[in-house]
Amino acid sequence: MYLRARLFLLMLMLLGWFQSSRSGNDSWSDPAHSQSNQINPGLSGNESLTTASLSSGQYEIFLPLIFKDPGTGPRVCPPLVPQTLRSLAQLDHILIGSAVNIRALRSDDQYAQILGQEFSSLTDESTMKFAATEPALDQYNFSAPDAIVAFAESHDMQIRGHTLVWGYALPSWLINGTWTREELIAILQDHIKTVVGHYKGRVYAWDVVNEAFNSDGSLRTDSFWMQRIGPQYISVAFQAAHEADPDALLFVNDFYATPGFVAAIHTYRSLDVPIDGVGLQLHMYNLQQKPTELSADIGRLEAEGLQANITELDVPISRDTGTMEDKLVAQAKIYAMVMDACLQHYNCTNFTMWGFTDKYSWLYSYLGVTYPTEQPLIFTPDYMEKPAEAALKNTLLSAACPKQ
Ligand code: XIL
Repeated sequence: MYLRARLFLLMLMLLGWFQSSRSGNDSWSDPAHSQSNQINPGLSGNESLTTASLSSGQYEIFLPLIFKDPGTGPRVCPPLVPQTLRSLAQLDHILIGSAVNIRALRSDDQYAQILGQEFSSLTDESTMKFAATEPALDQYNFSAPDAIVAFAESHDMQIRGHTLVWGYALPSWLINGTWTREELIAILQDHIKTVVGHYKGRVYAWDVVNEAFNSDGSLRTDSFWMQRIGPQYISVAFQAAHEADPDALLFVNDFYATPGFVAAIHTYRSLDVPIDGVGLQLHMYNLQQKPTELSADIGRLEAEGLQANITELDVPISRDTGTMEDKLVAQAKIYAMVMDACLQHYNCTNFTMWGFTDKYSWLYSYLGVTYPTEQPLIFTPDYMEKPAEAALKNTLLSAACPKQ
């Protein structure tokens, strides 16, 4: 996979040449290019390589050679009729995803129907975590994540695996056991190889380590793994995941992409730790990452040849002021701003929210708030579209089809 990352870099460089020869930009990471609002920067509808003449409200759009999978053949912009989020996201060559709540999936038909219809990527909210998959030493339980993976496959959705190494969701046998450092390294390796191996070829990307870094790029010392193994746990984890599925994309999932953080990832990669990308959680309740800084952060990852995924976006409103309508408009603007930042960069390939309906959000229990005071997602509890959902659709459509 590290080889894949290098191939990728090569592709990006070729793209740079291609783009600059097309539009006169000096480099693919030219800031003006990055700030552009469109996937095909520098190309207006009527000067693009593959743009056909406008006919009956539809026109072909430019197909860039990008990290984002462009598929084959020219795309046709849809008329402004109801589209699903996933069909619009496909125009922009990104996956759009939601975390899935297993209880809701099993009990709520409408939840399952909208999840399968609107999203092209799925992340299991909790059942792939350590405590759930290995409840006793060497005893694995995959029944819940197997059901989720089967659902995703039957709806032609990609799966992001979440998460292999985290300081939370650890089983008591692990935390309370008496282990030497070597034993813990072996337990970690076995766990990762078993879980990633179980889903080999089916989970396209893994959040290998979760919330491991401070914003300056140093490692958090409050993690069980850091305290018991030390900094080496990061490379142990990535190597084990890579061995178990060399084709899976491997991510560091965290809160930010500050210069110090990206420098730390650079160092790991220079030591051949197979990191393909960085997931940005973006739970906006704690504003660890400001939406206004997001484009620069994704650009910093782009310059490193790293994929960026938005992995856990939700936008709480309870701390805002104003009427409910004001709050929902402000929320929609943040969703659109995050999507816009993702669409500006070739390396941002997956935009995932931590759920999609305000009927089920982890924030209710985590923050101790209730609906409607809090409502961080894009559909109402009765599955009506909120302003945020419309804003996402508009942003996706206008990026792909700027003439409409
Ligand atoms: C949360 C889940 O949503 C909850 O259902 C679970 O009880 C606790 O974990 N950052 C992460 C996610 O990386 O794994 C967390 O998910 C939310 C914060």
